[in-house]
Amino acid sequence: MTEEAVTHPLVSFPQDRTCPYHPPSGYDPLRAARPLTRVRLYDGRAVWLVTGFAAARDLLGDPRLSADQDNEAFPSPTEGFKNRVRGRRLSLLGMDDPEHKALRRTVIPTFTAKRVSALRPRIQEIADRLIDAVIDQGPPAELVSAFALPVSSQVMCLMLGVPYADHEFFEEQSRRLLAGPTAEDTQRAGEQLDAYLGELIERRLREPGDALLDELIHQPYAQGAIGREELIALAALLVVAGHETTTNMISLGAFTLIEHPERLGELRAHPELMPAAVEELLRFLSVAEGGMRVATQDIGYGGQTIRAGDGVMMSTSLINRDPARHRTPDELDWHREDRHHLAFGFGIHQCLGQNLARAEIEIALRTLFERLPGLKLAEPAAQIPFKPGTTLQGMIRLPVRW
Ligand code: HEM
Repeated sequence: MTEEAVTHPLVSFPQDRTCPYHPPSGYDPLRAARPLTRVRLYDGRAVWLVTGFAAARDLLGDPRLSADQDNEAFPSPTEGFKNRVRGRRLSLLGMDDPEHKALRRTVIPTFTAKRVSALRPRIQEIADRLIDAVIDQGPPAELVSAFALPVSSQVMCLMLGVPYADHEFFEEQSRRLLAGPTAEDTQRAGEQLDAYLGELIERRLREPGDALLDELIHQPYAQGAIGREELIALAALLVVAGHETTTNMISLGAFTLIEHPERLGELRAHPELMPAAVEELLRFLSVAEGGMRVATQDIGYGGQTIRAGDGVMMSTSLINRDPARHRTPDELDWHREDRHHLAFGFGIHQCLGQNLARAEIEIALRTLFERLPGLKLAEPAAQIPFKPGTTLQGMIRLPVRW
């Protein structure tokens, strides 16, 4: 046993949430240990956990923290994660500067605000069509499979230029990639997704469309700025990141609003509060928990020293509920003066899809509650299953009636 374990038993990280929208109660001791503390991973390794808002911004902006998952000392939140990343190149998210900067620069022009605004009416059509079907077939309904997942998946397909007819295939591969039962299974899912995207790229070279994938093919790829493997890895990241996170935000956002009827009533009376509500839900729910880095040099921070080779994890849910930054952080409040949050990360890896995600969440939640004004849970809240703490946070099922 290490000296650290003898003198100070460390809180384990990550843990499952006890309520789908609050940080796990097992993290309570960590709230008093802001902004930086030590926690223990599943394999017994002690790593740093960032829990303070200002510290997260400072450290996520520090080039001495690396996102390179091939680094032997890179921390893994689960055994499955460790096996998943071995040998698989993770585009952007797993890269450091200057390589990261060069690739991100080639991608940024395709992620314009103009593209997102052009998509808004299409997102609205998708949401309306799905709610029509929910109304035709219900009540009751299961909103993850009937609404949150297909909204996110269809929007991702539209933006990227992936045929929605193949949705069962890529939804399945991305589920296995994020939480497959065995290392072999996640490996196989990655290979299958890559092979599919490789073929799609060939097809789009012959029959170009006007989606993001086409822009990437006909600009950086055709011009030689990125290679085939790099394009496939980037497309795979966009497929997975582009629908998993928004599915979770829509399902967990809907559950949270139903569980906070006063806040929902306020939104119904003042729909102009919706953009503020989306920001507040992003902060409050912090669905992308547990960002990971490894130190490449010693870093002195707040009187402590993060040594080269130390693992550093981010507790997004605690960072976004730091009372030094947000007054009454555990309350859902549409009128907060300081709505800034780190749910999309910070620094060079800050989420590339954040404006699209905001538009999707806003349209999906507004449409859901406008079209189904009597929406309520069809089972007791405590019995509705949500995802474990080692994956992105969200609902597994969301049974409702109206
Ligand atoms: C509510 C929805 C979303 C949340 C909460 C979210 C969260 C995040 C976070 C926290 C990071 C940074 C991770 C880190 O620093 O290690 C990130 C990066 C990223 N996200 Fe998102 N994301 C969302 C939606 C999307 C969508 C819709 C897309 C694509 C269309 C997307 C694409 C990306 C990409 C490509 C990166 C990597 C950027 C880089 O490394 O330079 N995300 N996201």
